[in-house]
Amino acid sequence: RILVLDFGSQYAQLIARRVREQNVYCQIVRHDLTAQRIAALRPKGIILSGGPSSVYQDGAPQCDPALFDLGIPVLGICYGMQLACAALGGKVDHTPSREYGRASCNVQVSDGLFAGLPESIEVWMSHGDQVSAIADEFETLAATPTCPFAAIRHRSRPIFGMQFHPEVTHTPLGSQILRNFVRGVCGCEDSWRLSDFADEAVQRIRGIVGDRRVICGLSGGVDSSVVAALLYRAIGDQLSCILIDNGLLRKNEQSLVIDEFSNHFKTDLHVVDAEDRFLADLAGITEPQEKRRRIGHAFIECFKDEAEKIENAHFLAQGTLYPDVIESGADPDGPAATIKLHHNVGGLPDELGFELIEPLRDLFKDEVRRLGLELGLPESLVWRHPFPGPGLAVRCLGEVTRDKLAILREADAIVVQEIQDAGLYRETSQAFAVLLPVQSVGVMGDARTYDRAVAVRCVNTDDFMTADWSHLPYDLLAKISTRIINEVKGINRVCYDISSKPPATIEWE
Ligand code: XMP
Repeated sequence: RILVLDFGSQYAQLIARRVREQNVYCQIVRHDLTAQRIAALRPKGIILSGGPSSVYQDGAPQCDPALFDLGIPVLGICYGMQLACAALGGKVDHTPSREYGRASCNVQVSDGLFAGLPESIEVWMSHGDQVSAIADEFETLAATPTCPFAAIRHRSRPIFGMQFHPEVTHTPLGSQILRNFVRGVCGCEDSWRLSDFADEAVQRIRGIVGDRRVICGLSGGVDSSVVAALLYRAIGDQLSCILIDNGLLRKNEQSLVIDEFSNHFKTDLHVVDAEDRFLADLAGITEPQEKRRRIGHAFIECFKDEAEKIENAHFLAQGTLYPDVIESGADPDGPAATIKLHHNVGGLPDELGFELIEPLRDLFKDEVRRLGLELGLPESLVWRHPFPGPGLAVRCLGEVTRDKLAILREADAIVVQEIQDAGLYRETSQAFAVLLPVQSVGVMGDARTYDRAVAVRCVNTDDFMTADWSHLPYDLLAKISTRIINEVKGINRVCYDISSKPPATIEWE
């Protein structure tokens, strides 16, 4: 495996994903892990990530300098390079102006890290400091007009550094550089494959579960579907799935899940029709947080009631992913929690009394998708946009009623269908309709109307923490608008939401 020591870089997870794309397992760990602990993890290589600090600043995150003596190959990226240079006799200075953006990099030594690359490559810079002098034991591998030490290596030890970011797509040949490091320098083999992961996970799950029963909540989303498919492969009919239909699902959602899971996988599927109960709980409620609270509470109650009917149930499966593990600080070697926890209404509390089983906790989202395909789930499910736990309730502004939900569901289905038909569904990260709590005047035929307005929300994002509104073609927007107004009774106006996150959020409530 390769270890990434995280110095607070926004790109640490991206580095790990890029390494895994080379079919090499990669784990993100704390930057202050001792050299002894690092050696015990037996990595084939170590990558020091970038980070927002300056190496000489008080309290700047450091690594154990003894790690440079382990004989394990080290690659420092940006801050990681500056740290390695500062520790081994070089000098780091503040650059007069922060360098941010594309640069043309001249490769001077074309073996090792740069094997097979052209003499001039485009790279992505993002730094305020840079290395201004290197110790005699180092040599320069590449330079840009403003950065004389864009890439360096130690003359006798396997220690490398680069000022630019090979992990981002703006460094087009960055993957090749990382590949040269993990395969060439570290000698890692092709050993991290999702088919192997699936086989090993199946064995592991069988070992843990024995002859007991596992319960899995299905939401129609990718993560819970992949968990269920994996568990089904491992333990077959010892798996029971529960789908709570809270009346806040998208159009045809219930039948979609039933088709997939009771027909295709033949799982024991319990569909709980809880629409009445959820809508009763939501009656008269307009405050978004209160809506969420009530939905979360009702969800837990319903789940508990149904789970109690399932005999011998011992485990509860959850679709926790690697970023959740990293960000919650749950891995003792992993970086401390720095980013907010994702609000997950579907999360079930400990008091349900089940032992948790989290078979996806080593995987990134894109790996979960590939695993889903490997396990036989259809593309349409594996590439589905995320859908929030509180469902349409947070897209039906103001009080949630059956009638308003029916209108919203139809409008939403048109948005999604048109984006799919335009071939843009995979390019967009989330697309949906929001029913606004306003009425406006219109004219249809000869008659005056006084109907509701719908907002169309469509965003592009990598991580859902920040997002840009999707620049959809005008023709497509026009078609969505015309169809909604013509086909959905009760709507006479459609707006397109052109706010980015931040400062707006993706959902409206
Ligand atoms: P916001 O609106 O915070 O949403 O920009 C970011 C992402 O999270 C989803 N979301 C939720 N998912 N339970 C969930 O499971 C929730 O309560 C919830 N609220 C927001 C949202 O759809 C978007 O993908």
